[in-house]
Order: sequence, then C-alpha cells, then structure tokens
Amino acid sequence: EQSARESMFIMNEWANEYFQNLLHNNVDGVAVGMQYFRSRGFRDDIIKKFQLGFDLTDRYALARAALAKGYKEDYLLKTAICYKNERGELIDRYSGRVVFPWISSSGRVVGFTARVLDSRTKGVNQKYVNSPDSEIYHKSNELYGIYQAKKAIAKEDRVYLVEGQADVISMHQSGIENVVANSGTALSIQQIHTLHRFTSNITLLYDGDAAGIHAALRGTDMLLLEGMNLMVLLLPDNDDPDSFARKHTADELKKYIEDNSTDFIRFKTSLLLDGQSDPLKRSEAINSIVASISMVQNPILRDTYLHDCSQQIGINEATLINQMNNMIRERK
Ligand code: CTP
Ligand code: MN
Ligand code: MN
Ligand code: MN
Ligand code: MN
Repeated sequence: EQSARESMFIMNEWANEYFQNLLHNNVDGVAVGMQYFRSRGFRDDIIKKFQLGFDLTDRYALARAALAKGYKEDYLLKTAICYKNERGELIDRYSGRVVFPWISSSGRVVGFTARVLDSRTKGVNQKYVNSPDSEIYHKSNELYGIYQAKKAIAKEDRVYLVEGQADVISMHQSGIENVVANSGTALSIQQIHTLHRFTSNITLLYDGDAAGIHAALRGTDMLLLEGMNLMVLLLPDNDDPDSFARKHTADELKKYIEDNSTDFIRFKTSLLLDGQSDPLKRSEAINSIVASISMVQNPILRDTYLHDCSQQIGINEATLINQMNNMIRERK
C-alpha cells in the first residue's frame, strides 16, 4: 500500500510528463508554448533540463486524461493540479499556460508554477499561478532549481539566490549553474538549511532598484546566524538576472558577477553610511551594522568585520566591540 505522499508524487510526476509531452508533441504546445520559450531565448537542452511544459487551453483535458489512465480524482485535488468548479467539474489549474515544475533536491516533483503566455492578459489573470501548499509542497520551504543546481553549488562552493524561475534558467543557460530562486519571498530557515547542506557561501543577486536593495537587506540576519557567508550583487536598475543575462554574453555576465559581488557587511556599511552626515542617523546605522556583525558565527570573522568597520567609519574599535558584546549577551 502506497503512502498518500508517495501517491501525490506519482500524480505530480504523471502531470509533469503530460505537460512536457504537450510542449514537445502537441500542435498547440509547439505553436504556442514552445514558441513562448523560444521567444524568451530558452534553448532546447535547457527546456528539457528544467522539464518545462505546457497545458492546453481546454480546461478539462488534463483531468480527462488522468482519469482515463486510472488516476483518482482525490489525488488531482490533493496535489491541486485540478480544482472543482461550482458545477463539481474538475478544472486544470494551469490551463493555457507554460509550466515550470518544482523538483526537490532528491528529484521528486513537488509542485508547479505556470506563467501566462500573453502579457495582454495581465490584470485579468495572474502572471504566475503556483501550486497551493499541500502535504508535499510548502512554497516557503522549496527552492526552484535546486535539483539542477546542487552539483554545481557543491563544486563551486557557492550558491546564487535570485528571484524567479526565468532568472535561474537564463543564468544556467549562460553557464552559471549554481543558482536557485525562492520566488520573490523572504528566505525561510528551511531553505537556508537546504542550501547549507551544499555550501556555506551565498550571494544574493537582486535588481539594483529600491525593491532589490530592500530585498537584499531582508532576511540577512537569519543567514548570518546560520553561519552562512553572505555576499550581495546588485544588477543595474531595471534589470533582473534573466534580462541582464540575455543582454550580455556569458563571459560578460561572469565578469560582472566577479567585479560587483560585495561582502554583505561592507555593502550594508556603504549603503547606510556613505553620504550620511547626520550624527544621530549615523549612530543608528552603525548600531544596525554592529547588530549584523554580532550575528556572524565565526568569532575571527566577527573580529575582522569589526576591525574593518571601525576603519571604514572612523569609530574606535573598542567601542564597537563593547556594543557588539552587549548585543550578543542580550540575545542569550
Ligand atoms: N511571482 C509569483 N506570482 C506573481 C508574481 C511573481 O509567484 N504574480 C514570483 C515568481 O516566482 C517570479 C518571482 O516572484 O518569478 C519574481 O517576480 P517578477 O520579477 O515579477 O517575475 P519574473 O521572474 O521577472 O517573471 P518574467 O520574467 O517571466 O516576467
Ligand atoms: Mn525590481
Ligand atoms: Mn539551524
Ligand atoms: Mn524579475
Ligand atoms: Mn523577468
């Protein structure tokens, strides 16, 4: 007797094959879905590697095919691949969209994200539809691309964290394979634990606009507390990693990353203090920087940061050490 969880995986894996088969072999799948991916510059090998798919506009087609194969309605609903309308009919959640499966680090299909094809439907439809949380899918625990990235993360001993699916895929296509996305939400402790199994080094790769900078500061304390070494990389304003990767050659992308990755503490110090002359604001900012340093787990690294920081901002090192020790003591 299979467990309910195992049956859900099997349901998802059937749907994943179904979506891929449509993309590659169905007339509409090729004309609409494949055409969409090609228009974004996704190569065939990458489309296969990320197991991208397509779902027909016929909103009943998936359930019909699944039931005919003997899959139970119960599991179409539990995995939320389908939902029931007011008339009790089973409807495809992702119909008329291209489909990105979420594959766990162990290779199981845990959920899906589906994107509209036509930007004119914006406002009418959500751009992205995600699997609702279920017994096997908790969006805030999963990392998009972890299955395809894990080897490269371990080999490079670093992971790049980006916002979206297209960012992961475009970077991968440019030869940077140690990339995962967390769908634009704050990193969770589960996600950090997953990444920490493969590396202690993480680079947050965000848009260079205000929202990107805000995102770069959010959730960083948890990463430091977990003992991760943290770098930040901002892209030029109005670019996300996908659009940037498509405007530049793979070598230019790699060079940009090399030249612009900044240690997080240094990044935060410059961001909060450069050009800030108001004494109260400066002292508030310094406190916030020392608070971040106090989260660093390695004591030698912590001291190094304090030393650098005292030079960078011109504050007596002993004062900073004192303040940091107070903060550490208060947390205990
Ligand atoms: N997202 C989502 N639902 C939305 C909008 C965004 O789940 N309605 C998630 C997606 O995972 C998306 C990420 O947040 O990839 C970042 O959002 P955004 O930058 O708007 O999307 P892009 O990844 O840039 O999407 P695209 O390039 O396909 O337009
Ligand atoms: Mn942005
Ligand atoms: Mn922990
Ligand atoms: Mn984006
Ligand atoms: Mn984008």
